[in-house]
Amino acid sequence: GRVAVLYGGSSAEREVSLKSGGAVLAALERQGIDAIGYDPAEGGLSGLEALAPDRVFVALHGRGGEDGTLQGALELLGIPYTGSGVLASALGMDKQRTKFVWQALGLPTPASRLLEADADWDGVVAELGLPLIVKPVHEGSTLGISIVDGRDALAAAYREAARFDARVMAERFIVGEEYTVSLLGDVILPAIRVEVPGGFYDYEAKYVSNDTLYHLPCGLSATDEAALGALCRDAFEAIGGQGWGRVDVMRDARGGFWLLEVNTVPGMTDHSLVPQAAAHAGLDFDALVLRILDTTLG
Ligand code: DAL
Ligand code: MG
Repeated sequence: GRVAVLYGGSSAEREVSLKSGGAVLAALERQGIDAIGYDPAEGGLSGLEALAPDRVFVALHGRGGEDGTLQGALELLGIPYTGSGVLASALGMDKQRTKFVWQALGLPTPASRLLEADADWDGVVAELGLPLIVKPVHEGSTLGISIVDGRDALAAAYREAARFDARVMAERFIVGEEYTVSLLGDVILPAIRVEVPGGFYDYEAKYVSNDTLYHLPCGLSATDEAALGALCRDAFEAIGGQGWGRVDVMRDARGGFWLLEVNTVPGMTDHSLVPQAAAHAGLDFDALVLRILDTTLG
């Protein structure tokens, strides 16, 4: 039956989603699948209902697409869809409540707290230490995120994050290496170590720059990579994740792993991580898209 690829949307990650969804749509078409792209920001839910798809491939990132609201609407419309259900989508979009779940289960994640415009900045530094990372609670693609080395930069970092979200958090910044693990059905794909020479893995480094280094194989021993993969699978299952997703992790100087977040609709652009990990495991982009489609819920 017909597959509707949902992409675009109205979140701050709209441009990323247009790329992800465009790539997914092209892959489905190449494989002879009856697929149609649909932007809910333009046609709303009634337009989607009118298309009467048999399944939906969710390629929306951020609020209104990745955060459970769309998933709930699809449940009510009775249309099966790829990826996580309502609860995991909503939790995954809330970086702080994701951490509460992990902490309750004893999974390692850096300490954090919410910030307010009138926060006691000295108290924040005393509680969490430096450096800190300040981020919008519900955002993706590193939008609105700052690394803060000193107390005096906190207020500006708060204001930057607050442009994107009513809720802002500060988190202890783990100095070390950045890893990401992609999960596809029951399969843990090879970990990637991301390295940004002279910078951090921000929006520019994710989607624009060609200087970002993607280490694949990631350079960990087989034992450490297996432990990392198992940790990420546990982290994904902890929030109820299903189908596919990507977990981002830091590794400190002593080799300890720290969970940062779950992405329940990871990027599928030509710079994105899941397609690279899949390719390393022998799954080209077209095959990856079919495998994700096979994980459809409903
Ligand atoms: N939020 C972006 C799309 C990602 O995680 O890949
Ligand atoms: Mg993210």
